[in-house]
Amino acid sequence: MGQERTYKRRPIGVFDSGVGGLTVVRALRAVVPGEDIIYLGDTARVPYGSKSPRTVERYSLACLQFLLDREVKLVLVACNTVSATALPALAAASAVPVIGAVDPGAQRALAATHNRHIGVIGTLATVRSGAYVQAIAAHDAGARVTAAACPLLVPLAEEGWTDDEIAWLVARRYLGPLFAADPQIDTLVLGCTHYPLLRDVLGRVAHELAAHDVAVVDSATAMAEAAHHVLGSGPNRRGEPGRLDCFATDTSRLDELAPRFLGESPTGFALVDL
Ligand code: DGL
Repeated sequence: MGQERTYKRRPIGVFDSGVGGLTVVRALRAVVPGEDIIYLGDTARVPYGSKSPRTVERYSLACLQFLLDREVKLVLVACNTVSATALPALAAASAVPVIGAVDPGAQRALAATHNRHIGVIGTLATVRSGAYVQAIAAHDAGARVTAAACPLLVPLAEEGWTDDEIAWLVARRYLGPLFAADPQIDTLVLGCTHYPLLRDVLGRVAHELAAHDVAVVDSATAMAEAAHHVLGSGPNRRGEPGRLDCFATDTSRLDELAPRFLGESPTGFALVDL
């Protein structure tokens, strides 16, 4: 009983290459509001999406260890790039469950599609890994998946250029070839922490290119629901909202960027070295 109570009170750990993973924290706070959360953004080394799998794995193992040292009971890998390239290594290194972004996103896409034609967009590393293609095929071998890397969308989201002519031009430039490769795509997976900020423009451009409805899905809510499921009867159900403690490896621009992804201002980031 004593041990059980201790487990319940332990925080959930969430990490990302930067601030984008706060979209997952936002979803998590909506689904399990009583839980304490420790968030780590590896802002000194962001972006991960243009780096090799080996480097991403090395960086993310250090992020994981930081959270494990703080006795988290569960780890959410908010970063799609890490989830796509390093999840097996993280799971092997962790004594607590590790939830990635790819499988929840893949399942959400399969639940949304009517014709099993799915488009996936993400960073270069995520698309190169083929992780979404594999995850979708593992659930439905007959689904057709077409993927495209959209590296410029991360800086666009960080600049806050999410609904101007530049966002439209860039979205058309990336989604044009995707829908040319498979005009029947009816579901688009936002396989990157940053893309939910561009959901509106991406959805409208997809609709314009496809000339039919396109469902736009991301993994943030699905990950939060997976966390709820893993916690089972164990979530911390005390009445007051849980604490959110944020850490980052560099603090430049955090005050400006973090609220965009979290939807509110975090109380502050503590600077850490991994
Ligand atoms: N967090 C990354 C992802 O979801 C995007 C930013 C980066 O490239 O590090 O893939």
